[in-house]
Amino acid sequence: MSFRIGIVGAGGIGSLHAETAIKVGLEVGAVCDVDADRARALAARYPGAVATTSIAELLKRSEIAAVVVATPNVHHKKMALAVIGAGKDLLLEKPMALSAVECDDIIGAIRETGALVQLGFVSRCAPASIAARELVTEGRFGRIYHAKASQYRQRGIPGLGRWCTTRALSGGGVLMDLGVHLLDLVLWLTDFPTATRASSICSSTFGSPIPRYRFSKMWAGPPNPDGVFDVEDAVTALVRFSGNMTMELNATWAADIPARWARNGVLLLGEKGGCYFDVWGNQLFVTTEQGDPLDDQEQTLPTCDPWSVAWEEQYRRFLGMVTERSEPHATAVQGRTVQRLVDALYRSAEEDREVEVV
Ligand SMILES: NC(=O)c1ccc[n+]([C@@H]2O[C@H](COP(=O)([O-])OP(=O)(O)OC[C@H]3O[C@@H](n4cnc5c(N)ncnc54)[C@H](O)[C@@H]3O)[C@@H](O)[C@H]2O)c1
Repeated sequence: MSFRIGIVGAGGIGSLHAETAIKVGLEVGAVCDVDADRARALAARYPGAVATTSIAELLKRSEIAAVVVATPNVHHKKMALAVIGAGKDLLLEKPMALSAVECDDIIGAIRETGALVQLGFVSRCAPASIAARELVTEGRFGRIYHAKASQYRQRGIPGLGRWCTTRALSGGGVLMDLGVHLLDLVLWLTDFPTATRASSICSSTFGSPIPRYRFSKMWAGPPNPDGVFDVEDAVTALVRFSGNMTMELNATWAADIPARWARNGVLLLGEKGGCYFDVWGNQLFVTTEQGDPLDDQEQTLPTCDPWSVAWEEQYRRFLGMVTERSEPHATAVQGRTVQRLVDALYRSAEEDREVEVV
């Protein structure tokens, strides 16, 4: 079964949403962007899709069953409320909103209407993440007591000087951008333990002054030399959970970190074994106590482009959720849990101390 979707935000990720939706058999019925040219350009790729600059106009269309929101973070809450209020299901990009309080408003609307909302935590759908989750579920590692998640970019500040680096529009820097994926992934892998205390250091070394930034690649366009950079370009964090689990998080948008040293991915340490994987790789390194000495194995996954496979998987789950009215793969309550942790980490950085996660 198929249905038509509307896409709000025709930028980098909105375009990828449209492309992936088609691959799993959905139709793009409408594209909305404040930039009329962008809306028209994306809609033109999909026969029958209309372009508009007004979300209200998109939501009026009865043939649109579900909507994807892929706009700057500052708009997530109000757009989610509009979509839910219009009686449509939603795929909402990460981060869910700017704060846990904003997430509460979205959850309240979901409870009132019964709308189905899936969050864009696509890292969960990567083949390596799914394989790791299976091993955790089978109990291969026993109780997990520590997780370390890292993503280091040497140079990769997205849209420097544009919305991503302007706190009022993004809610924060690399923690809001890459950090939420890593936090969500570790929480999902470990059955969402309750975070109790958190500490973080957020630093800004490379983003300002903007004209000094030397970059090799950018996400979301070239730098705007007259724009704003008032967010962090690196975060280091430690989170304590009930049940004696801890998590370390390291993420950089920019760092002079030797590429061959930087280990991107997730390390899980359990009482009976552990594993490491690069979310966007196709290998898992697994150690268990099944042998003597320890049994160290390398599990190679089928060759594929993990990024495309993850996006398609995310969309298959979205399709299933809407057509079968099933529980979202990444729920709004889980999105709020991530946001609550992000709120605590920013508070810790600001107050320069460990804080309670409230
Ligand atoms: N899942 C992922 O891996 C992933 C990766 C990158 C970005 N994202 C998320 O996707 C969202 C969009 O990021 P992007 O990189 O595509 O940004 P982008 O700047 O490339 O695109 C955003 C688009 O939204 C449009 N827009 C702005 N305000 C609008 C409004 N009020 N109504 C309609 N359209 C509006 C802009 O004109 C632009 O075309 C962000 O929330 C970001 O965090 C997710």
